[in-house]
Amino acid sequence: MKHATAVDVQTPQDPLNLYHAVRESVTVQDDAGSRRAALADGLRQRTGLDDAALQRVVHSFYARARLDPDLGPIFAAHVADWQAHEARMVDFWASVALLAGRYHRNALQAHKPLDLRQAHFTRWLELFDQTLAAEVTPQAREHLLAIAQRIATTLRHRLCPR
Ligand code: HEM
Repeated sequence: MKHATAVDVQTPQDPLNLYHAVRESVTVQDDAGSRRAALADGLRQRTGLDDAALQRVVHSFYARARLDPDLGPIFAAHVADWQAHEARMVDFWASVALLAGRYHRNALQAHKPLDLRQAHFTRWLELFDQTLAAEVTPQAREHLLAIAQRIATTLRHRLCPR
């Protein structure tokens, strides 16, 4: 059975983002499945992203995050199997950025025990953007960062004490 994703960013509303541009250019309207496939194709073409690129992003991001004085200890305390974690994160990014539908877990729940603060999110986003600058096209960087910022905001509002 599929679980609802607590942080659902698969149908973003931001009119400035790539989903919108690609949605505008999609002419196949006959059914939801083919429309989704056409959107996914458009996103891949516009960003140059694929699984190999997402693997690079995920791997390179965690290489940075694990060395970070603030974030490193949190990951060290909660992630035992890095191969499994990175594979899960590739599924997550393929799902939110390329509509792959391969992530059906509850990301909010996973962060609840971590005692996260606003500063953690600021740092996470900094490292993520540094990673994107090094690993992917400018279009992909913009696309992935916009999604990350939106999810980080949702997580922060739900998890951080005010
Ligand atoms: C504030 C900084 C963050 C920290 C320190 C952090 C830390 C972690 C840790 C330790 C896990 C592993 C949890 C476990 O397996 O027990 C995890 C999982 C995950 N994180 Fe984060 N995270 C942060 C922000 C984010 C953001 C901004 C996103 C999305 C853009 C994100 C997406 C995910 C996802 C999808 C998982 C997998 C959850 C699952 O399915 O079990 N995280 N994170």
